Amino acid sequence: MPPGDALLHVNNIEVRYHQVILVLKGVSLKVPAGGIVALLGANGAGKSTTLKAISGLLKHEEGQITDGSIEFMGERIDRKSAEEIAALGIIQVLEGRRVFEHLTVEENLRVGAHHGDGRRLSERLELVYHYFPHLKTIRNRVAGFCSGGEQQMLAIGRALMTRPRLLLLDEPSLGLAPLIVREIMEIITRLNQEQGIAILLVEQNAKLALEIAQHAYVLENGRVVMEGPAAALRDNPDIREFYLGLTEMGARKRFREAKWYKRRKRWLT
Ligand SMILES: Nc1ncnc2c1ncn2[C@@H]1O[C@H](COP(=O)(O)OP(=O)(O)OP(=O)(O)O)[C@@H](O)[C@H]1O
Ligand SMILES: [Mg+2]
Repeated sequence: MPPGDALLHVNNIEVRYHQVILVLKGVSLKVPAGGIVALLGANGAGKSTTLKAISGLLKHEEGQITDGSIEFMGERIDRKSAEEIAALGIIQVLEGRRVFEHLTVEENLRVGAHHGDGRRLSERLELVYHYFPHLKTIRNRVAGFCSGGEQQMLAIGRALMTRPRLLLLDEPSLGLAPLIVREIMEIITRLNQEQGIAILLVEQNAKLALEIAQHAYVLENGRVVMEGPAAALRDNPDIREFYLGLTEMGARKRFREAKWYKRRKRWLT
């Protein structure tokens, strides 16, 4: 894909926290318009940092892009504020389903809309309830009393209220029961297909992510160590072993064993 074709183009970015801690060491990735791209990697690899660099939220955590650039629809965004970036249509759903616990479900959604007149607001609410009918049935419940799955739906629903072009999702499956995870992944796929929203999906659950994404990147220690079509990554023996937990015989590997072996892998240099 030539650079001009990408909706989002992250070009060799370096990110530091507190001016000294180098966390991303030259990360490049692309998200095509209307595509779903997965970003995989172990704890601490730099997945959330990559999303925050794109959304501009890094600046709120004393993080800085010290090299490289980020383009969205052909425009440089790496020096813009989170508010400006959101206005362009990029919205990040943070890890750990941050909702306003003391507000009701619907109040959370209204806050998500930021601005807009009454008619636009009710149209957007209807759109969210269309994709998350369950949220409508609990619209008056205080968010703090909602289950983890409901809160995750609410966090995504709130992002939808801004009518994004690109959704950055940080581990939406974390800590949720498999059935709920399925449901959320199906809704994400529908939002992509029916609303044309492009998605950059961060997941430790590689199996799941590779099922719904067309393309994937693997991040290790602040660098992209592997990328390709999701189908190719699913079949890759290293991915099968370290991210899908499968050996050649299909048996489960012990995590520590895999970790130890991983360090010797050629693609990790
Ligand atoms: N605000 C911060 N200040 C300093 N260091 C940070 C900050 N946020 C993250 N880091 C460090 O940057 C590295 C990458 O963190 P990041 O949260 O991006 O990883 P991740 O891939 O999202 O991990 P996880 O799967 O655990 O969420 C880690 O070593 C982390 O300790
Ligand atoms: Mg993270």
